[in-house]
Amino acid sequence: MSQALSGAERGKSSAAKTAAATVESGMKVGLGTGSTATWLVKHLAVMVREKGLRIEAAATSVQTANLAAKLGIKVKPLDEIGCLDLTIDGADEFDNQLNLIKGGGGALLREKIVARASDQMIVIADASKDVEKLGKFPVPVEVIPYGLASSRSLIEQTLRDIGYPNAGIFVREKNGDWFVTDEGNHILDLHLDRISDPLELSQMLNGIPGVVENGLFIDMCCSVMIGFADGTSETRSLQNA
Ligand code: A5P
Repeated sequence: MSQALSGAERGKSSAAKTAAATVESGMKVGLGTGSTATWLVKHLAVMVREKGLRIEAAATSVQTANLAAKLGIKVKPLDEIGCLDLTIDGADEFDNQLNLIKGGGGALLREKIVARASDQMIVIADASKDVEKLGKFPVPVEVIPYGLASSRSLIEQTLRDIGYPNAGIFVREKNGDWFVTDEGNHILDLHLDRISDPLELSQMLNGIPGVVENGLFIDMCCSVMIGFADGTSETRSLQNA
């Protein structure tokens, strides 16, 4: 199967397979969203079908819920499951503190809710997501439709106040229209280039009326499983995790 894969896809698949191997029968598992998380769902589905793995899963998007259910994984609403043992999700960037930017796929709100409901969050990623400083990837901010232009202005002003005078702020689009999240909101992508203090930025953004959540995941992830183009993987964990 892996013969026809590009290096990046091989890396994603191998990170996802390594993470799937940590899942045990009886676990309640949060399933992430995106191309790497799709590999996770596929690997878990094989374990369910061929190895009798029994799990209950909460999905971080409609897209993931549909795929997982189609492949035979038992998917339930988060509130029906309650606490999760583990969430495994992709990321757009991770730094050496395992802080993350997420939301490239637009699912950051549910992703953060599901990760927070979990005892542990594991990130799966190909090596291109490993960065020294977060920020090259634009930070997604989910905002409610009402007063979006006002929220955008407040974000701009806040960014100026905390040292990002040249930030670009763009409403995310899909097929010529504004992108709509699973919760019916929109996404503003903040182009910052280099984030000096991710925690401060996250707190400031979430204090702005109209902002529902942002894509900075601080102190949430305990391990990153990094997959490489040759099909190998490496696990990086926080020492005190
Ligand atoms: C989805 O909203 C995101 O948080 C994804 O987890 C992130 O964008 C990584 O996606 P890929 O695995 O497709 O790179």
